[in-house]
Amino acid sequence: MNYKIAVLNGDGIGPEIVAEAIKVLDKVGEKFGHQFEYVRGYLGGESVDKYGVPLSSETVEVCKNSDAILLGAIGGPKWDNIEPEKRPERGLLAIRKELGVYTNLRPAILFKSLKSASPLKEEIIGDGLDVMIVRELTGGLYFGHREYSDEKAFDTLPYTRFEIERIAKKAFEIAKLRNKKLTSVDKHNVLDTSKLWRKVVEEISKDYPEVEVSHMYVDNAAMQLIANPRQFDVILTENMFGDILSDEASMLTGSLGMLPSASLGDGKVGLYEPSHGSAPDIAGKNIANPIATILSAVMMLRYSFNLQKEADAIEKAVEKVLEAGFRTADIYTDGMQKVGTDEMGTEIANRI
Ligand code: NAD
Ligand code: IPM
Ligand code: MN
Repeated sequence: MNYKIAVLNGDGIGPEIVAEAIKVLDKVGEKFGHQFEYVRGYLGGESVDKYGVPLSSETVEVCKNSDAILLGAIGGPKWDNIEPEKRPERGLLAIRKELGVYTNLRPAILFKSLKSASPLKEEIIGDGLDVMIVRELTGGLYFGHREYSDEKAFDTLPYTRFEIERIAKKAFEIAKLRNKKLTSVDKHNVLDTSKLWRKVVEEISKDYPEVEVSHMYVDNAAMQLIANPRQFDVILTENMFGDILSDEASMLTGSLGMLPSASLGDGKVGLYEPSHGSAPDIAGKNIANPIATILSAVMMLRYSFNLQKEADAIEKAVEKVLEAGFRTADIYTDGMQKVGTDEMGTEIANRI
């Protein structure tokens, strides 16, 4: 089969990590007889430099005319002081909104051989940590009314029943296929949006009697993730809380460089990107961990192309490379073999 993938490198480490995901995809294509065709688009700072805006209509077209989108990461100090509408981050929010990808899946899975890279004690992290964060991605604080003056500024956090219902249904569907445990995270004790969130989640839960649902305040959830991470199966939460909790959860697996993501809507095009940012502090040094991006490509094979064997093959290859002791700097522990971004990609591709 032929698949057209829109590729948005973005900024900072973006081009380095995307190159490794493409290396791995090409190897899978070769092995299993698929053609991946890549069409370049531009997002974030690279788009500001090229088109004067962080997301151009040209790139929107490229994305909408593809079967899936692979994104590196955007942002960096070069664009930190331009007008707010031109910030690279605005381009990322705009493409998510434009594609209607309201479901953001961020799986925090600990590979056995990375147990010692996790900052938690072995008896707490245990075996087989596998938490799926379902983050609402196109509503809430990121898309509310905002106003800024040097004396007063505000952002609002709106959610409609419709927006909560559709993400809650997705999360329950996912929980049904997993360990049937869903924790909805909110701030019901303070926020009206959380009041509506909890009410709607309770209502939707009636259609999923097989799923055990509980509610947790976000501050407690942040603590529980560290104290007892294995109590969680699926975490359902709103946009901003999901952003923060997913970075936190990534460390349980050893590094932010291990956490992939899939952003899905009801349309055909899914957006796949690592959960981390453009890491300007390590850009251009060939030391970034490409695994989050490679695992995002795995999610693309599963969710957009339904290529399960191919996805399994990459996952197995990642596992073998980690078992063999190869580590980028972020997951390095004593006695392991330190490799760069490109070598990590090559080692993974070689095991497919
Ligand atoms: P970041 O995620 O880029 O980096 C945080 C820390 O994690 C840094 O120390 C970085 O070196 C490290 N890190 C991140 N990815 C890594 C990888 N693959 N391998 C090894 N180490 C890795 O967050 P930040 O520094 O707060 O933000 C930098 C820029 O990225 C900002 O402009 C921000 O807006 C943007 N950002 C973009 C996205 C995105 O494109 N989805 C996500 C988060 C942040
Ligand atoms: C992420 C990022 C983005 C977000 C920023 C860069 C807009 O942190 O993808 O997690 O907050 O969604
Ligand atoms: Mn984030």
